[in-house]
Amino acid sequence: MFSTRAGHRILLLAVLVTGFISILYIASFAQPPPPVPVRTGKDSSTAKNNGPLLSGHAIAPKLGNETVKAELGRAAWKVLHTTFARFPEKPTDDEKEALRSYVHLFQRLYPCGECAEHFSTVLEKYPPQVSSRSAAAMWGCMVHNIVNKRLHKPEFNCENIGDAYDCGVVRRARVLGACCRCFGELPR
Ligand SMILES: Cc1cc2nc3c(=O)[nH]c(=O)nc-3n(C[C@H](O)[C@H](O)[C@H](O)COP(=O)(O)OP(=O)(O)OC[C@H]3O[C@@H](n4cnc5c(N)ncnc54)[C@H](O)[C@@H]3O)c2cc1C
Ligand SMILES: *[C@@H]1O[C@H](CO)[C@@H](O)[C@H](O)[C@H]1NC(C)=O
Repeated sequence: MFSTRAGHRILLLAVLVTGFISILYIASFAQPPPPVPVRTGKDSSTAKNNGPLLSGHAIAPKLGNETVKAELGRAAWKVLHTTFARFPEKPTDDEKEALRSYVHLFQRLYPCGECAEHFSTVLEKYPPQVSSRSAAAMWGCMVHNIVNKRLHKPEFNCENIGDAYDCGVVRRARVLGACCRCFGELPR
């Protein structure tokens, strides 16, 4: 009788010890917890954290060929001005940060290396304005004019920037029949 109870105790102890060792063994294979993300992408400090990424050296090699350079430039300015014209008039912090990063990386990765290098000095002096659609569009017109001046091209009147690129809400009535056809869609 006594020996039976002792046997039960030993068996119970053995089961507990085995279970405990099994748990330790399995736990040793578990993944370490993922690292805590450093950035939230929410506030203006992000721009500083991203500094080296957004303002590092121009990446593309020298382009040289003037025909290709001009074609690329016309296409690129069209993308930029149209992006600004369709940016929200009241952007969220996230949207502002997205535009700021986009412009900086657009510069770094611009396929004409010599253009990108010059444009980095423009961005340094005139950081992208991302507070609203009109601020972004005005800023875009202004920096394009800086490039125009350097290339001895005529200055663009930035008061006309809305007529040239805007497909936004303000001109919705007119846009239906006119400028939004360029996007193949109706304004939202
Ligand atoms: C970021 C960037 C940097 C560049 N750097 C160089 C460089 O260093 N060297 C070089 O040779 N080329 C550079 N280019 C290309 C150059 O700016 C021109 O795109 C190219 O010379 C062709 O000029 P374009 O006369 O056809 O008119 P673009 O300057 O390409 O302009 C296209 C059209 O946009 C309109 N426009 C003109 N000015 C404005 C304005 N201020 N705001 C809004 N719309 C306007 C006009 O309708 C114009 O016809 C650069 C382009 C970009 C996007
Ligand atoms: C520049 O590129 C164009 C288009 O690809 C080409 O036709 C032209 O021959 C090139 N010019 C030079 C000087 O290489």
